[in-house]
Amino acid sequence: MVMNTSTRPGSRSQAVIARDSAIMSGSISNRYPFVIERGEGARVWDVDGNDYIDFAAGIAVTATGHSHPKVVEAITEQAKKFIHIAGTDYYYDVQVKVAEKLASIAPFDGPARVFLTNSGTEAVEGAIKLARWYTDRQQIIAFYGAFHGRSMGSLSLTASKVIQKDGFFPFVPGVHHVPYNNPYRCMHGREEAACQAHCMCADFITDVLFKRTVPAESVAAIILEPVQGEGGYVVPDTRFVQQLRDICDEHGILLIADEVQSGIGRTGKWWSIEHHGVQPDIVCSAKGIASGMPLGAVIAREEIMSWPSGAHGSTFAGNPVSCAAALVTLELVENGLMQNAAEQGEFIMDALEEMRTHHPTLKYARIAGQGLMIGAELVLDEKHTPAKALRDTVEDIAIENGLLILGCGESGLRFSPALMIDRAAVQEGLERFERSLTQAEQAAGLL
Ligand SMILES: Cc1ncc(COP(=O)(O)O)c(C=O)c1O
Repeated sequence: MVMNTSTRPGSRSQAVIARDSAIMSGSISNRYPFVIERGEGARVWDVDGNDYIDFAAGIAVTATGHSHPKVVEAITEQAKKFIHIAGTDYYYDVQVKVAEKLASIAPFDGPARVFLTNSGTEAVEGAIKLARWYTDRQQIIAFYGAFHGRSMGSLSLTASKVIQKDGFFPFVPGVHHVPYNNPYRCMHGREEAACQAHCMCADFITDVLFKRTVPAESVAAIILEPVQGEGGYVVPDTRFVQQLRDICDEHGILLIADEVQSGIGRTGKWWSIEHHGVQPDIVCSAKGIASGMPLGAVIAREEIMSWPSGAHGSTFAGNPVSCAAALVTLELVENGLMQNAAEQGEFIMDALEEMRTHHPTLKYARIAGQGLMIGAELVLDEKHTPAKALRDTVEDIAIENGLLILGCGESGLRFSPALMIDRAAVQEGLERFERSLTQAEQAAGLL
């Protein structure tokens, strides 16, 4: 493979970026100077002919890689037949097939029902509406660090970065944020070992929230990212997740798993929550479900998704072309890609652990993940002081070194390539990452 090593971004890329900057909403965040020409698997090329390893996968979306031939074929065939008919008004088989498949892999016992959406935020909106409708309760518990989307309902649950909320108040009432299990940065200010031995986050719900501000019997749902994504790729302890299930069971509260980023095989299982042996009542899915075609889903226990005709709907949701892409995606994920995610993820985790010894900002880092949802939180010292500026520099240098990698949390980097990535691309990406980290640490005078 020929790699063009001209300055990045090249002149063609710069021209597109300049036009984009003049016309697109300035609200779009964290844009990197990469202008795609085409993609194949886990590799992409910019309009100046430079090649990149893609560890970002369009924010953990392109599960089967860029333009997988089977996905392209399914999209093409469906588009030739019909592109839209409105699933809220008429029927089509490919939508039913997707719902049947999702119901069959739902991470809870018993029958499931499915509502298809266009995006992750819509899946979350659907889930909170359903929880309120079914329980006839209003309050929702969400976690600090959570990202559930940017429409008003899901943004009310989001508590990741204040810029995402600033200027948009007031939000949907009845949302209560509580600390999320993260011994590396215990929100109760406790030492890591003490927090690991006994996390107080679930206790906070029962001993503080329920006693002082919110009656347990008024709570419709607890919404949980089984791995916090945008908030830093934080993997919680199993005990914490189980405690949340117990609280829900005791008080008739629904447990919603927001698997928009962590689901569809990314963590080596269909759903991240399965790593904890806990069954949710409602699951939100999107991102990787259709290899980049817009699709999401609310998957709920059948008795819960019993709302009446007309209670919820959407013009575009369950788009036939997206559904065709989803069917092939789910098949590919089931038949090898999920397993590959587990294997390649283990390799990346080991490689990052090995890098600790050569890199000051990895020495005390939180390196955590499941499958191909791996985060490394760069820190300056034993006290876990976030190396935010350095993390930003790594992202910028990575582009110059031919690697797409996204940040998360205050000083984290996410390793979230396509689930089909092979060992050669993983190694190449890791080399480019380490080179970028070395250069950033040198520039900061740390090496
Ligand atoms: C866990 C989680 N929930 C919801 C969303 C919102 O999804 P979308 O951007 O498709 O609306 C995201 C997006 O990053 C997410 O990571």
